[in-house]
Amino acid sequence: MPLVLGIETSCDETGVGLVRDGVLLGDALASSMDQHARFGGVVPEIAARAHLEALPAMVRHALDRAGVAFADIDAVAVTAGPGLASAVQVGLAAGKAYALALAVPLYGVHHLAGHAAVDTLEHGPLPGRCIALIVSGGHTSLLLLGDLARDPIVHLGDTLDDAAGEAFDKVARLLGLSYPGGPAIDRVAREGDPHAIAFPRALPGTHTFSFSGLKTAVARWVERHPGPVPVADVAASFQEAVADTLSRKAVAACHEHDASTLLMVGGVAANSRVRALTAQRCAKAGIELRVPTPRLCTDNGAMIAAVGDLVIRAGLPPSPLDLAMHPTATL
Ligand code: KG4
Ligand code: ZN
Repeated sequence: MPLVLGIETSCDETGVGLVRDGVLLGDALASSMDQHARFGGVVPEIAARAHLEALPAMVRHALDRAGVAFADIDAVAVTAGPGLASAVQVGLAAGKAYALALAVPLYGVHHLAGHAAVDTLEHGPLPGRCIALIVSGGHTSLLLLGDLARDPIVHLGDTLDDAAGEAFDKVARLLGLSYPGGPAIDRVAREGDPHAIAFPRALPGTHTFSFSGLKTAVARWVERHPGPVPVADVAASFQEAVADTLSRKAVAACHEHDASTLLMVGGVAANSRVRALTAQRCAKAGIELRVPTPRLCTDNGAMIAAVGDLVIRAGLPPSPLDLAMHPTATL
């Protein structure tokens, strides 16, 4: 079976992974997150420069960890989009260079297919039809997945404004909690009452998300209540609103599309209440919930190698070396 080198550079993580026949042999990850903190968001040019600097070392580390040599690589899979244009371009150019130098095929990969495919490295093949909820600082998407190697990804809904993780980060800042806000809210919410404050649930009955109204509702509530803020109750009530919204919409999508498996990935999938409520609702509805280990839930190279591996095993053709900055394979 071919050894696939996966490269991911769509945002601020420089990820490299090596996968063979559904098995992750080794991976390495660098992040430029610290360099963006003072700008309040990822700066594409800074991310791109960081990828250029970090990528060769990450490839080296991944090879060392897998115990294989450059010459053992049989194929290169690289994120071709979606993502920050200048950041994607660095990985794509590097992927082409490695493929050319090693005289092996190149596979352009859809970043979101990677988020789903990574689960197969831990839990085996996905069923032919499932719903994926991707919830991180950058994504909030509800997807209908078929055969990951062949079928296009169907977007059932995305966020109209803030991503779920962004909402956690902004509300945490409002409450004076540390960055990243998700884990901080998760921690203090344990001491609070999730039903203390009835925060709104946006766009019920649809597959679309919106979190800016919820964030504003929290800000208004804090403004209207002078005196010390009951941080634990506000955090728990906010977290409950997000968990309720995400789990309800995901389970509804499974029902609507006759899917008996829900895949949940992204940093927010690490949230204890999001996990517990989603697990509870899935169990009640007879839906299998699959959540990769947190390390693989966030952007990484293994997820891109996992897609390359699936595509090769499905016998699909490689991408051309002049592959443009969008996925060509139907991933
Ligand atoms: O997937 P991720 O690590 O990175 C990208 O967005 O690329 O997601 C990061 C987001 C942050 O907004 C962070 O606050 C959120 O995931 N997050 C959490 C938790 N852990 C991380 N949100 C809620 N609860 C958590 N335990
Ligand atoms: Zn991602």
